[in-house]
Amino acid sequence: MNEERILGTEGNIKEREYEAGLRPQSFKEYIGQERVVQNIELMVHSAKVRKAAMDHVLLSGPPGLGKTSLAMLIAKEVGSELHLVSGPGIERKGDLAAVLTNLKAGDVLFIDEIHRMHITVEELLYSAMEDFRLDILIGQGASARTMQIDLAPFTLIGATTRSGLLSNPLRDRFMAHLNFDFYAPATLAVILENNAKKMGLKLIGDAKFEIARRSRGTPRIANRILRRVRDFALVKGSMEVEMLEVNSALELLDIDNLGLDNMDRKILTVMKNYYQGGPVGIEALSATLGEDKQTIEEVYEPYLLKEGLILRTPRGRVLSELALKHI
Ligand SMILES: Nc1ncnc2c1ncn2[C@@H]1O[C@H](COP(=O)(O)OP(=O)(O)O)[C@@H](O)[C@H]1O
Ligand SMILES: [Mg+2]
Repeated sequence: MNEERILGTEGNIKEREYEAGLRPQSFKEYIGQERVVQNIELMVHSAKVRKAAMDHVLLSGPPGLGKTSLAMLIAKEVGSELHLVSGPGIERKGDLAAVLTNLKAGDVLFIDEIHRMHITVEELLYSAMEDFRLDILIGQGASARTMQIDLAPFTLIGATTRSGLLSNPLRDRFMAHLNFDFYAPATLAVILENNAKKMGLKLIGDAKFEIARRSRGTPRIANRILRRVRDFALVKGSMEVEMLEVNSALELLDIDNLGLDNMDRKILTVMKNYYQGGPVGIEALSATLGEDKQTIEEVYEPYLLKEGLILRTPRGRVLSELALKHI
């Protein structure tokens, strides 16, 4: 994936390292998402009092809003090891069985993109989550039998960008379902201030508010803009960041006044020029744009819907007045 591409889920290795350096190290550094954090703190507390593993929890919301960071904090807070796996990355039942049997009491298993897990693999989770037990079928036909393996009591944290795509039996086994919202600019400004400090930058005047306002309500994007801003500051030879550096960075990243990137604008423009503003179905839109349907639905659309740029109707997506004015 192109590094300059502002969205997308995780980015390349260099970017992941940069991001890891900015991850909140304590709940105090984890800004915003108050409702989610309150729920988690209660669950962590309860687990400590009961001296048991914390309840399983499902975290859902668009990419870059802090799901992975929160899972890391939870593991730290309960003082146990975090095991990170990605749903689509587990191809066979045996792979998941190996992960599960390796867990120690109280460990946290984080499954990212849990809605993309293969259904036969997923089925293994049902008894694991409910009874901390693995049911494994051995042999075939008449001689087949199930073998049961006891697991250490663990906590499953599932992360998903599309909770609606989770199967019912899996969804039902999570004791808590927590939804992440886009961050308000004022909240992002606090995150930016903290991260600028970590990077030895000083954001002057309205600089942090301007970055916050144009970050699509997403800390990951705010951080990416901050990284470009730092580059301009280095060129200037001063770590004091003013609007000039912010605007240069945003221009380089092709982020417009509403905080929309190239792909956002392409979606709106295609809807206007090819479909007279809609309604248009997701299949048609995806084919015209040459962009994966899931990516449009999970990465781009949530923000465009939230900002009222596109509207959903029973017959498909339509452009709003605001969008028409914008493009
Ligand atoms: N609540 C928050 N407070 C401070 N920084 C955050 C917060 N949420 C996310 N971030 C920043 O955004 C980056 C991406 O967050 P991440 O947890 O990887 O998102 P997700 O897993 O939801 O895609 C993190 O590296 C971190 O720097
Ligand atoms: Mg993540």
